[in-house]
Amino acid sequence: MAHILLSLVIVLLASIANAFHLHEVYQFPNGTWVENIAIRSNGNLLVTFASTPELWEVIPSAQLGATQARRLHDFPNTEMATGIAELEPDVYAVITPNTVWKVDLNNGTKKTPTRIATLQPARSLNGMAVLNPGTQTLAIADCEAGLVWRLDTKTGNYTVILRDETMAANTKEGVLLGINGLKVHNGHVYYVNTPERLFCRIPVNTTTGRATGPREIISQGTLADDFAISRHGVGYLAGLTDHVITRVLANGTQEVIANSSALMSATSGAFGRLGGSDVLYITTGGETSHVVNNTSSRGGKVLALSLEP
Ligand SMILES: *[C@@H]1O[C@H](CO)[C@@H](O)[C@H](O)[C@H]1NC(C)=O
Ligand SMILES: *[C@@H]1O[C@H](CO)[C@@H](O)[C@H](O)[C@H]1NC(C)=O
Ligand SMILES: *[C@@H]1O[C@H](CO)[C@@H](O)[C@H](O)[C@H]1NC(C)=O
Ligand SMILES: *[C@@H]1O[C@H](CO)[C@@H](O)[C@H](O)[C@H]1NC(C)=O
Ligand SMILES: *[C@@H]1O[C@H](CO)[C@@H](O)[C@H](O)[C@H]1NC(C)=O
Ligand SMILES: *[C@@H]1O[C@H](CO)[C@@H](O)[C@H](O)[C@H]1NC(C)=O
Ligand SMILES: *[C@@H]1O[C@H](CO)[C@@H](O)[C@H](O)[C@H]1NC(C)=O
Ligand SMILES: *[C@@H]1O[C@H](CO)[C@@H](O)[C@H](O)[C@H]1NC(C)=O
Repeated sequence: MAHILLSLVIVLLASIANAFHLHEVYQFPNGTWVENIAIRSNGNLLVTFASTPELWEVIPSAQLGATQARRLHDFPNTEMATGIAELEPDVYAVITPNTVWKVDLNNGTKKTPTRIATLQPARSLNGMAVLNPGTQTLAIADCEAGLVWRLDTKTGNYTVILRDETMAANTKEGVLLGINGLKVHNGHVYYVNTPERLFCRIPVNTTTGRATGPREIISQGTLADDFAISRHGVGYLAGLTDHVITRVLANGTQEVIANSSALMSATSGAFGRLGGSDVLYITTGGETSHVVNNTSSRGGKVLALSLEP
């Protein structure tokens, strides 16, 4: 109760001149690493945990004292949940490496998730986005193998579609990791390579997922996990242990738009779907640099960053 009240009243200002407002929406208990986020059409937030294999819903509009967060699902036989993407209205694909589940919230939240596929040869599935909404196919980053899978959610068929040196994994950040966050926008697969600090894109045929042109390095030098991408192709990168959000324009211009200890271990971002002003919801792993096993360190959070000052 205490931390719910606290999280509602604490308002933190980003330490930058143009005063994008950063405020805390919800903080989870110690040991919780919040990994990824999707926004429901009703404005509620769906977040995955990498500290335990759970999917939670956070209600940003909840009144003081009302239930602000609730666990929706606990996935069996796995240790974490990672990527999440909306397949069709209020139906989500969620990864528990290396199984992809379907979570249908259309008729309440009680329906048990169904398994779409287990990608047996995958190493570690992480960032995920819908490749083609019409055919309900997904593009999924394999952060250890350093490549991108295409998964047909209707048939369960999967295949490697993209592999590039900019996706390759190494241990510079302490764990084997390469390509990490991934989004699809305007016929391109966008992705980051965390240890190499790259933000890239590749034009693809969204039916096959195959590259239709060369990959482009949009920007370099920014540490990032996952990110949101705007309608105009502007990236908002969650800066992990740099505790920042970096905006990257299509021409590669980078700007830190939020730099705060509240953003410790920022893991992902997604735009709000309600209201007039643009809000970027951000998840964090908490006051720790690596996923902890539900044991120690202050818990991960969901924050809201107003993009219109
Ligand atoms: C919604 O849930 C109700 C009650 O559990 C059930 O009768 C109904 O068939 C469900 N509808 C769909 C579309 O799943
Ligand atoms: C799924 O993959 C199998 C084996 O590669 C192939 O035989 C089958 O045609 C595929 N199905 C579809 C619908 O693409
Ligand atoms: C994408 O690939 C499919 C299957 O090979 C092909 O039929 C289609 O014409 C391609 N689309 C574009 C825009 O090239
Ligand atoms: C990139 O785009 C922004 C916004 O249009 C512009 O202000 C900036 O000068 C551009 N930078 C370069 C290097 O072209
Ligand atoms: C964030 O702010 C701190 C303190 O002002 C500064 O040392 C650090 O370089 C900033 N980080 C980035 C990525 O700009
Ligand atoms: C987390 O703790 C559980 C139970 O103690 C253990 O089985 C599991 O291997 C641990 N996982 C990691 C990544 O340390
Ligand atoms: C994580 O810790 C909480 C609080 O100690 C406990 O209730 C929960 O069962 C733990 N979960 C796992 C998966 O160990
Ligand atoms: C949470 O972790 C912090 C930092 O490790 C510690 O000071 C605090 O006592 C912990 N809180 C709980 C409830 O365990």
